[in-house]
Amino acid sequence: MENNRRNFLKKSALLGLAGVAGSLIGKEKLTNLENISAALQETGKFELPKLPYAYYALEPFIDSKTMEIHHSKHHAGYVNNLNKAVETGSFSGKSIEEILRSVNANDAAVRNNAGGHYNHSLFWQLLEPNRYKMLPLPEGTLRDAITTQFNSFGEFKQLFTGKAMSVFGSGWCWLITDAQGNLKITATANQDNPLMQIVAEQGKPVLALDVWEHAYYLKHQNKRMDYISDWWNVINWQKAEELFTQK
Ligand SMILES: [Fe+2]
Repeated sequence: MENNRRNFLKKSALLGLAGVAGSLIGKEKLTNLENISAALQETGKFELPKLPYAYYALEPFIDSKTMEIHHSKHHAGYVNNLNKAVETGSFSGKSIEEILRSVNANDAAVRNNAGGHYNHSLFWQLLEPNRYKMLPLPEGTLRDAITTQFNSFGEFKQLFTGKAMSVFGSGWCWLITDAQGNLKITATANQDNPLMQIVAEQGKPVLALDVWEHAYYLKHQNKRMDYISDWWNVINWQKAEELFTQK
C-alpha cells in the first residue's frame, strides 16, 4: 500500500498532475496487454481501460446497453475489487500477469477479480465495429495456422462455437497457443484464464469470448448461440494476429 502510494506520488510529481498521467496512458494502454501492467506502475492502482470505440459501435451485433453495463458496471467492479484485494499482502505492487500466474485456487477474491480485469481488458481489444457488412476473417500467419490446424476456417468456427456452447454456467472460451506453439480451443470457468497455473489447459490467449449471461442477456436472452453467431461479426482479427505473433 505504502509502496503504491509512494510510486503514485513520485510519478504524479514527474508528470505534473495525476490527471495528466491518466490521460497520457489512457490511449496507449489499449494497444497491448503489457500496458495493463504499465497502468499499475503509473498510478499504483489498476484502472478501467477506456473502450477503443463507442458503446453503440458494435450494433446491431452487440447492443449499446449491454456494452455500457458490461464495461462501466461489471468490468469496473472487477477493477475496484481487485484493487481492494491486492492492497496489502503478497500481491501488492505486482503486475496483473504476475498475479494471474501465481494466484492460488483458494484465493477467491484475487482469482476472480484479477481474472475479471484481465479477461475483459482483452475481450474489448478483440472486438471492433463491423464496417464492411461482411464476416471478418483472420489475417496473415494466424489465418494460415488456423487453416493448417483445423483444416478450414469453417471447421474452426464450428469447433469454437461448440466449445463456447458447452461452457456450463459462467465462463470463457479461448483460442490459445500452447507451450509447443500449437493452437488450441479451450474453456475456463468463471473468470479463470489460460495464464493461470491452476487451470487445466494453459497457454497464451489469441481470442477470448465472454459467455457469461451478462455479456448477452439483454439482447439475446437465453439464446447463447445467437450471441456467439453475432460475435463472429465483430472480431478484431488484426488484434488476434498481433497476439498470435507477439513473443
Ligand atoms: Fe463479462
